[in-house]
Amino acid sequence: MKERNKLKIITAENYMHLSELVAQIIIKKVHEKPNAVIGLATGSTPIGMYQQLIKDYLKNGTSYEHIKTVNLDEYVGLSENHPQSYRYYMDYQLFKHINIKNENIFIPNGKNSLEACESYEKNIQHIGGVDLQILGIGHNGHIGFNEPNTPFSSRTHIVELADSTRQANARFFEGIEEVPKHAITMGIETILQSKQIILLASGISKSDAVNRLFSKEINENFPASALHHHSDVTVVVDKEAANYSPLSYE
Ligand code: F6R
Repeated sequence: MKERNKLKIITAENYMHLSELVAQIIIKKVHEKPNAVIGLATGSTPIGMYQQLIKDYLKNGTSYEHIKTVNLDEYVGLSENHPQSYRYYMDYQLFKHINIKNENIFIPNGKNSLEACESYEKNIQHIGGVDLQILGIGHNGHIGFNEPNTPFSSRTHIVELADSTRQANARFFEGIEEVPKHAITMGIETILQSKQIILLASGISKSDAVNRLFSKEINENFPASALHHHSDVTVVVDKEAANYSPLSYE
C-alpha cells in the first residue's frame, strides 16, 4: 500500500488574501529557480492569483523569460482562439501581460488523439518535470479534468466530462449544449509526479470537497484524495472553503 502523507493547509482570510499568498509562492519559486517549470490551472479560482502575478511583474519586474509553463488540460474541439479555450484563457489572464516566451508555453492542443496525449506526457519529462503545480478542485473532487473513478495511475488522456462538470462550466458558454463533451487532461499520476503541489479552493461551494479531501478517504471515486500519496502538497483555502473538520483528519 502506498504511503499516506499529511496535506499542509493554509487558511486565508478571503479570496484576495488567498490569491496573494499563492502568487507569492509562485514568485518565490521563480526567483529561486528562474528556469522552473510551473504547472497551471484555469477556471475561476486562479484568476486573482494571475492578477497578483501581473501586478508583481509590473511593479517588481519578476522575470518569466526562462520559465516554462504546462497547463493541466484543454477542451477537445475548441480552436486556440475560441474565447472558451484554455489557451485563450491563459493568454488573456496571464501570458500576454508578462515576459514569458511563446515557445515555453505548453497547453494540450485539444485534439482527440492518443498521439497528442503521449507527446504531451513526453514533453513534460523532456523539459524536466513540473517543479510547482497549481491545482483547483471540482465539486466532485476532480483535479485537472480527472473525474471520479479515473485511475490514480492515469497519464495524460482524453476524458468524457461528467454532466456536473459540464453544468458547472456552462456559465462560460452560451448554454450547456455548447460545452464540449471531451477534454484532454494530465492524468493523476502525471500530476503526482510534480515536485510540489498547491491546491486552491475558494468559497462555500467548495467546502464539501475540502472537507472530503481532509477526511480519511483515499479513493478513486474522489480524485483529489490521490494527493495524500504526494509528500509536498499545500492546500490554500479561504475561510468559506475552510469549513472542514480538523478532527476528522487526525
Ligand atoms: C482547470 C482544472 C479544473 C478546475 C476545477 C475548479 O484547469 O483543471 O480542475 O481547477 O474545475 O474550477 P473553478 O476554479 O472554476 O472552480
